[in-house]
Amino acid sequence: MNIRPFDYSDADYELYVRLSNAVYPDQPRTLEALRHFDATKGPGEIAQTFFIEQAGQAVGWFAFMTPRFNPLSGQLEVEWGLLPGHEPLSEALWGALERELARHRPGALVTRVREDWPQAAFYMARGFEVYDRMWPSTLDLGRFDPAPFQRPLPESIRIGTLADLDYHSEAVQRRYYALVTALLRDVPSAQPVELWPFELWQERSMKDKNLIPEANFIAFEGEAMVGVSQLWRSPRPQTLQTGLTGVLPSHRRRGIALALKLRALEYARQQGYRYVRTNNHQVNRPMLALNEALGFEKGPAQLHLKKSLFVKEEL
Ligand SMILES: CC(C)(COP(=O)(O)OP(=O)(O)OC[C@H]1O[C@@H](n2cnc3c(N)ncnc32)[C@H](O)[C@@H]1OP(=O)(O)O)[C@@H](O)C(=O)NCCC(=O)NCCS
Repeated sequence: MNIRPFDYSDADYELYVRLSNAVYPDQPRTLEALRHFDATKGPGEIAQTFFIEQAGQAVGWFAFMTPRFNPLSGQLEVEWGLLPGHEPLSEALWGALERELARHRPGALVTRVREDWPQAAFYMARGFEVYDRMWPSTLDLGRFDPAPFQRPLPESIRIGTLADLDYHSEAVQRRYYALVTALLRDVPSAQPVELWPFELWQERSMKDKNLIPEANFIAFEGEAMVGVSQLWRSPRPQTLQTGLTGVLPSHRRRGIALALKLRALEYARQQGYRYVRTNNHQVNRPMLALNEALGFEKGPAQLHLKKSLFVKEEL
């Protein structure tokens, strides 16, 4: 078994996408998303990928990185995969990953894995523990009837989209960022939430090719933004992916999130999409209740695993 670092060439990007999609076909990756990920690395963030080769052929990879969606200090997120038939290399791969990781002296490793995949047991056997769970769920628009859900919004509330605003201007982006970050802080989650600074958010979200300004639905009260529901382009066929949905605490339980989601579903239907997907923390009862009522159907849970490490010299 030979190990070599990812060299950032076009060929290596293509190889990574090919391997990843062969091992995890239900979590499709695109070249564009990988390049965007690398191009928007934050200051001081770590991201390294290595290929596993046998007889000169890449048969797997491992990678570790500063967690993108919650970059908590001291944590590194790990991932790996081996093509079918090469699973016996997993022990050696893990040993190599640990050696490469050690130079960065992480305080904890985190990863995400589907509950029904063999990797879940692999991680548990190596001291990882479940600290959070998320449910992906999907609504089939072919079977969705919005009529029973329609109800009037409070008179002071109007729904628009990011595309209605001058969203390239920093002033609008800062207002949107303020809303999004206030709501993200409020999403029930098992770990503290570390938010991206404005400039990184601008690069990662506003310049993401998967951003659809017309499908970022915003609830306004006068000029104030009080709620949001976002749809993003997805590598899954016929599918749009839900991003953040949220309503400021002062405006909850008045049907605003429901109205935002209905607008988003109507947009998806009008654009010819068949499915809308979403991901929710299993502890997020309010959001789950809303999605369950609309008819989203859950898939196998995604486990969030963590292993705390300590540095021996510091004992
Ligand atoms: C989840 C959230 C978006 C709901 O917003 P909202 O505008 O209050 O929701 P609505 O008024 O449209 O509620 C619609 C339905 O959802 C369900 N629901 C909403 N909040 C609920 C709660 N706290 N508990 C149980 N069910 C709830 C109910 O079925 C409700 O209908 P009802 O009021 O007739 O009972 C809001 O609580 C929120 O912003 N939470 C923090 C951010 C977050 O966690 N977002 C999801 C992660 S992406």
